[in-house]
Amino acid sequence: MTVSDFSRILDARRLRADFPALQRATRPGVPLVYLDSTATSQKPQQVVDALAAFYRSRNANVHRGIYTLAEEATAAYEEARQKVAAFIGAAEAAEIVFVRNATEAVNLVAYAWGRANLHAGDLIVLTEMEHHANLVPWQMLAAERGVRLEFIPVTPEGALDMAALPGLLAQEPKLVAVSGMSNVTGVQPDVAEIARQAHAAGAVVLVDGAQLVPHAPVDVQALGADFLAFSGHKMLGPTGVGVLYGRRALLEAMPPFLGGGDMIRWVKLRSFDVNDVPYKFEAGTPPIAEAVALGAAVDYLQHVGMEAIHAYEQAMAAYVLPRLQEVPGLHLLGTATERRGAVFSFWMDDIHAHDVAQILDHYGIAVRAGHHCAQPLHTKFGVPATARASFYFYNLPEEADHLIAALYKAKEVFA
Ligand code: ALA
Repeated sequence: MTVSDFSRILDARRLRADFPALQRATRPGVPLVYLDSTATSQKPQQVVDALAAFYRSRNANVHRGIYTLAEEATAAYEEARQKVAAFIGAAEAAEIVFVRNATEAVNLVAYAWGRANLHAGDLIVLTEMEHHANLVPWQMLAAERGVRLEFIPVTPEGALDMAALPGLLAQEPKLVAVSGMSNVTGVQPDVAEIARQAHAAGAVVLVDGAQLVPHAPVDVQALGADFLAFSGHKMLGPTGVGVLYGRRALLEAMPPFLGGGDMIRWVKLRSFDVNDVPYKFEAGTPPIAEAVALGAAVDYLQHVGMEAIHAYEQAMAAYVLPRLQEVPGLHLLGTATERRGAVFSFWMDDIHAHDVAQILDHYGIAVRAGHHCAQPLHTKFGVPATARASFYFYNLPEEADHLIAALYKAKEVFA
């Protein structure tokens, strides 16, 4: 891959100009090289403007007022829901529940669907590569209900060991909950195939799409997701808004999660009746401005094109991976070359991951260090912490070169 090969896929240099944070320096004379989009993405001006414009001229609560301003706010909020629904191929906007983030979306399913449908001895199949957000809610349910948890293993390359799936499905799990893309290795498991086999075994399928939805085209029908959880802030949107997609029949059969305003049809002193989906799951004032700005983020991503974003990041993965592997004493957590995005977690001989991150910061490079909310995966690879460089479509191959050069410098410092 040469620099011009990249620009044939997508004009990252032009798109970067939309992102104010990418124009700043870490310190005077040291441009910011932002390689932590897996933690949170930067925001284009269009999203910042949408957020500000809502507060400037359309701010009112939704589903409550009958005055013009409130109706405009409600229309903007519901328009965002429609945009999100179309973006992921949902059959209807009512299947989109606005929540705070992917974590809350998984917790909602664990609480409402899980407690209504899972009983002692029932099995949930997860994977060893899950983020804590798709582990801990199920562990809590397991402790409370006596539900069993089993895991699709991760191979030494960081991929899922698909050969283990039939044996797990033969135990007739009620739920298979898998990440669409690891936030540690960038591996994108074949979720459509997992869902196909899981459905044949009678299981409901939840996909943690926190990393997948920002980085690849997602169609919930093709994916076979019964539930899909994702966060706005990792896909150019603001923090504080996330999405739970759920098939209508499943959402309708579930009891509510949180109780309060808007999720009810009527309330008496000792009882209530629930509202229709999706409002049944949106108790209290929702993240209105944030949802509207998420709609603007969806517009932006569609304008760039999710196919192009996916292709660009695959090219970036192919560019970065061998260069990282050439750095002496650097070990990658996850060397898979197939089905992976541009996320690289690594450890270095004799240099702690936090020191790596600190040295990279000296060169303006922002990476995350730690276990990335995936401690079991790190334990499996026998390392407590890694440094993680994660790329988005606004990153340039030159920034990858800068990262590699800085890693050689880090080795010199610690030699
Ligand atoms: N889940 C986010 C990450 O991987 C916060 O960094």
